[in-house]
Amino acid sequence: MTSGEIRESFLDFFREKRHTIVSSSSLMPDAPNLLFTNAGMNQFVPIFLEEMPCPYTPARAADTQKCIRAGGKHNDLEDVGFDTYHHTFFEMLGNWSFGDYFKKDAIEWAWELVVERWKFPASRLYATVYKPGEGDPASFDQEAYDFWKMLFEKVGLDPDIHIVNGNKKDNFWMMGETGPCGPCSELHVDLTPEGDSKGSLVNMDDARCIEIWNLVFIQFNAQPDGSMVPLPSQHVDTGMGFERVCSILQGTRNFTDFKHAQISNYETDVFRPLFDKLEELTGKPYGGTLPKPGQTDLSGQEKLDVAFRVISDHIRALTFSIADGILPSNEGRGYVLRRILRRAVRYGREVGLNHLFFHQIVQVVATTFGDVFPELRKRQSDVEKVIQAEEESFSKTLDRGIELFEKIVDKGKEISGEDAFKLYDTYGFPVDLTQLMARERGLKVDEIGFEKFMSEQRERSKAARKSEVIEVSETEEPALETQFVGFEEKEGVAVQVCTHQLQFGKTEDEVIRAKLFFTPTPFYGEMGGQVGDAGWLEFDSKRIEIIDTKKTPAGNVVHLTEDLEDLDALSFPLKASVNVARRALIESHHSVTHILHWALREVLGDRVGQKGSYVGPDRLRFDFSHLEAMKKEEIDKVESLINERIQENAKVSWNERPYAEVKGDPSIMQAFGEKYGEVVRVVDIGGYSKELCGGTHVTGTALIGSLRIISESGIAAGVRRVEAIAGESLRPYVLAEDLKLKETVKQVSKGRNTRVTFADLPEASVEELWSIFDQNRKSLEALRAEIKRLDKEEAKKVQVELQKNASGKAKELIQSAEQIGEISCIAVHLGEVPGGYLQTLANEITKQWEGVVILGGQTGESKVGLLAAVSASLNKKILAGDLMKEMAPIVGGKGGGRPEMAQGGGTDPSKIENALEAGKKKLG
Ligand code: SER
Repeated sequence: MTSGEIRESFLDFFREKRHTIVSSSSLMPDAPNLLFTNAGMNQFVPIFLEEMPCPYTPARAADTQKCIRAGGKHNDLEDVGFDTYHHTFFEMLGNWSFGDYFKKDAIEWAWELVVERWKFPASRLYATVYKPGEGDPASFDQEAYDFWKMLFEKVGLDPDIHIVNGNKKDNFWMMGETGPCGPCSELHVDLTPEGDSKGSLVNMDDARCIEIWNLVFIQFNAQPDGSMVPLPSQHVDTGMGFERVCSILQGTRNFTDFKHAQISNYETDVFRPLFDKLEELTGKPYGGTLPKPGQTDLSGQEKLDVAFRVISDHIRALTFSIADGILPSNEGRGYVLRRILRRAVRYGREVGLNHLFFHQIVQVVATTFGDVFPELRKRQSDVEKVIQAEEESFSKTLDRGIELFEKIVDKGKEISGEDAFKLYDTYGFPVDLTQLMARERGLKVDEIGFEKFMSEQRERSKAARKSEVIEVSETEEPALETQFVGFEEKEGVAVQVCTHQLQFGKTEDEVIRAKLFFTPTPFYGEMGGQVGDAGWLEFDSKRIEIIDTKKTPAGNVVHLTEDLEDLDALSFPLKASVNVARRALIESHHSVTHILHWALREVLGDRVGQKGSYVGPDRLRFDFSHLEAMKKEEIDKVESLINERIQENAKVSWNERPYAEVKGDPSIMQAFGEKYGEVVRVVDIGGYSKELCGGTHVTGTALIGSLRIISESGIAAGVRRVEAIAGESLRPYVLAEDLKLKETVKQVSKGRNTRVTFADLPEASVEELWSIFDQNRKSLEALRAEIKRLDKEEAKKVQVELQKNASGKAKELIQSAEQIGEISCIAVHLGEVPGGYLQTLANEITKQWEGVVILGGQTGESKVGLLAAVSASLNKKILAGDLMKEMAPIVGGKGGGRPEMAQGGGTDPSKIENALEAGKKKLG
């Protein structure tokens, strides 16, 4: 069958089962917690949650859904190109029941389609069912087990072999951290030449045994706190990997040949047209070779094949997304797309595709899939334009970096740490790329030197982060009235009167603090959200620092210093100066708070009202009434509206007006119930924002610089909080966040060498700093995926080692079996062993020997593994589960299982021998 026929055949089958065939939903998800549509069920979430009635009669649907899994919970990006079946973009065929049929029909129909209609050999099929681990939701899926059992037995296959249990990770499906979810049952296909893997490869991330269909039995709504709330009805959500099914049907020539089969999603008519195009563009043929896991020295053909797979996968992701209106950008899903595109373009260079080639492949995607997804044809030329522009801008960065690299290479044998750092820092050139290119020239990079520059930069970041916040406590009123002159006068203000009769003494931390009142003062005392000024007081050629300022209830300003040990040291004339650089940052944040207030009302509506604020040199916080969390799109909109307004450089003006005149004026923001004086100040920004405000402001909005919203959260019922940072204040924030990020990276990478790189932050504009940091944040996601991949790889290696070791060990143990009455028994304490070993060893023994096997071992600190296996022929006399019931409590645990095989665990390794003895005693 062609891929088109396979797709049609799936939909026809479910049409016959009275399903309504629906269209794929857009790749732009409705759910706020998703980057992309990542599963067929996404579009049906409101029906599952009963927020919307099911529009289909009967309540069933089927479709093929466009999905992207790159970034977020299901993320396959780093694997793409290196194997036969991972993709960023793929089609998922699915069928759904909305409170209609449940497990029985879902399982029986899956069997009917796959075995009876498509003729998959049943002996090569394995079904997995959910078996929860400790603390996991729901219970063992006995129902699903029983339906699969019936089907396998009907064709004479052993359900004990063909049904495999899976834990929460493999058999409990969640769309994201929250939302509809439930236990699932998957169908896996054994693709080994002989089809004799007996289930041992299921869920081992092995291309020789792959999952083709996932049947999810939706029963819960996962909450943000991790709890599972049962849904009113039970639903079915299935997802079949379209490209995978095509690869099997086409690769085995309809199951006629597994021996010579090249089973790869890429060896299908889904990808062939893309490869044809790439062969035409490069003049080189695709060879279908695959690097081994972890292999780094790729041959020319292997490199080419990886690149072809990467490019043809990625162009599908890009074309489908852009056609759905998701554009590459610097943030969120747009950034994921940008990364995918850049990954493809880089691989293109490796196979000689140097000039804007990527957009040329769009047309192949549009032609191949345009009948099923008409939007591709409709938007083809838009998509091409977007991709070409992206490619162009990326090529420029790459080229500039390469240019500099060439200059450096001319200098000598080694690329100095400083040069590597410059490439890294100024051009955003990942150091592994520098290394790769250096190797190609037989050159080395001075990594130690490079590290030195990096750590110096880290130190600089640390220094920039240092800051102190000191609280000033309430105090009595002084014998003077402060006159505030700091709207206009900020430096060198002559102080006429100064009193300090108030608190003066040691604080808990032994610092001497004096609180001074003086008038007139340029210092703004903290009030109405705006923090107090800091600055200096100069006298007698001495200078003391004012570290904070606050307004008393009567409106006087109290100044705090830690530099004055002797009150008599103060002498007139005194000059007061505000730290104007700090004040400028505060004023930026204050003015932009007003613009934020305006923008929130534009986007969320007039019901938004201010509930509180903080305006400091470091950031601003704005609390406001609004019933629900802001959507990402709303936050983005607010941010971009503000930045547009900032760039207009509107004048910020203020004037004093009698309160009676402006009271209740709807065009002037004012707080209900707030007590205003007789005269108030109206601050006007560009005519669009007018507020009653006693604070200080910039004179024109361009002085603010750009603004970033860094968080949005709820602080009380109906009250939301936005935090944002503007202009130069972003620099220390990003540097501090960068340090945290580096720490996380260290923890996540566990000292491993990975393919993921992180650029260091340049000493450039705040914008550039932020954008590189943003990229690094995204790289962290990639790093997590990479580490997961490496972990899996290692686990697989350990497993293989064990397997090898197990057959030798099994033979040895069989030799030393002892006789207990009429029963042959092997009972051994294996010492320290990795998890899974007991099972592997027991399988080896029972394959070639009959009797009772009792194994114990220490699988971790305070962790015991126990296993009992009883040959079926002995089951009349003894059950493995009964042995385990005797043994497990002795090591402080519990266990159970089937008559032939039971496993248990515990916490006391010192009692393993005793447990084995107890098992043996039960036999005797
Ligand atoms: N939602 C499940 C999955 O994506 C089945 O459709 O695997």
